[in-house]
Amino acid sequence: MAPKTFKRKLCASFKSYGKQKGKLNAEKMNLKHFSLEELQRATKNFSQECLVGSGAFGNVYRGTFHLEGTLAIKKPNAEQYTSTDEFRNEVRLLSKVKHNNLVGLVGFCEETGPKAAKILVYEYVTNGSLLDYIMGRGGRSLTWRQRVNIAIGAAKGIAHLHEGIHPSIIHRDIKPSNILIGEGFEAKVSDFGLVRSGPVGDQSHVSSLVKGTPGYLDPAYCASFHLTPFTDVYSFGVILLQLIAARPAVESSRSSTISHIINWARPSIEKGCIEEIIDANLLLEECNMEMMLKMGQLGLRCVVQVPRERPTMSQVWQELEANLNLAPEYPIPLDSQRFSSRSIHESVIRISNQSEHDYSQSIVSIDGIGLQRFHVDMDSVSFQSASLRCLEMSIDDDFSIPR
Ligand SMILES: Nc1ncnc2c1ncn2[C@@H]1O[C@H](COP(=O)(O)OP(=O)(O)O)[C@@H](O)[C@H]1O
Ligand SMILES: [Mg+2]
Repeated sequence: MAPKTFKRKLCASFKSYGKQKGKLNAEKMNLKHFSLEELQRATKNFSQECLVGSGAFGNVYRGTFHLEGTLAIKKPNAEQYTSTDEFRNEVRLLSKVKHNNLVGLVGFCEETGPKAAKILVYEYVTNGSLLDYIMGRGGRSLTWRQRVNIAIGAAKGIAHLHEGIHPSIIHRDIKPSNILIGEGFEAKVSDFGLVRSGPVGDQSHVSSLVKGTPGYLDPAYCASFHLTPFTDVYSFGVILLQLIAARPAVESSRSSTISHIINWARPSIEKGCIEEIIDANLLLEECNMEMMLKMGQLGLRCVVQVPRERPTMSQVWQELEANLNLAPEYPIPLDSQRFSSRSIHESVIRISNQSEHDYSQSIVSIDGIGLQRFHVDMDSVSFQSASLRCLEMSIDDDFSIPR
């Protein structure tokens, strides 16, 4: 080959390599490239009226499109992406993840210059988030079967992130507001991949700064900075307990004592007295107490201190599904003797007391280091919101570990 032709070919191949690493090719990734104007039109210029909620990442808007219908538009805070490459890598990673129990990425908007924008566009999940149900927002509640099905679906979604893709993804922010509820009350896990990928090859963990939400953070991860899939299993264990009890992960009382749901629920689950901690709404209907107890026991196994002794996410959903398949269509209470009219009466009182609480969003700020030094910024008697800001922080060894 003549040296000139060779040089031209070499240049061309470098250019195409640059292209692949550089600009996003929406068609190739099976995604749609939205212009900023399209998104502005769909959200009435990112109006308050279209705002669904906001989190640590930024705001989420409901967008209405002529062709695509309703979509969720995630507009990050200005400081979210440090570089364009970071955004592009994230889009590439998310485009490869497809599962019924994971919120799917539909497209993105990337613009440079004065109108610079980096926005992710997701499928819109219609029935709110698990947090809405745990807090009973708008009188919302779930049947025992819906709770188990949501736990199974969410566990399947997370298991797919851990075991079904390469490189695997450790979610790092499993919490009720990241488990969205679809039209058929199926679970859809959101916000995966917005953080670091999981370990590759024979690595057992990824070392990183602690990132996550207080109440759901694995103390073992906080102490060691070793991120493994079991970090997500811990957070999921907390959610299993919340599905049973409909309580926040961390509750503070007027006397400013902070109690974690694990410490609060453990004695009753270990005694087999699930009715002591169960969501009062479940006592007013037919509920499979046996199944709820099993879910509680599994929850406690997910939060054991040593990460490797916890079940994997696949084991979690398989165990829940096996128990659900064995459950009778019309459940009988675990011990009908325990369900006296008195306990039902107490449940009704619990429900009416709950409605007196201020359900406003609470922000827990971590003043530097340990959980002991949490400052709970609110004035309600008992905060029902687990919607704590996702905080990036470094925590040293004195982080208190719920046992
Ligand atoms: N794809 C989606 N479809 C519908 N609602 C969504 C979607 N993604 C997020 N949301 C809602 O938007 C709100 C804000 O989400 P987010 O920014 O992820 O913060 P967080 O998860 O910390 O609450 C959440 O309450 C969630 O219910
Ligand atoms: Mg979220």
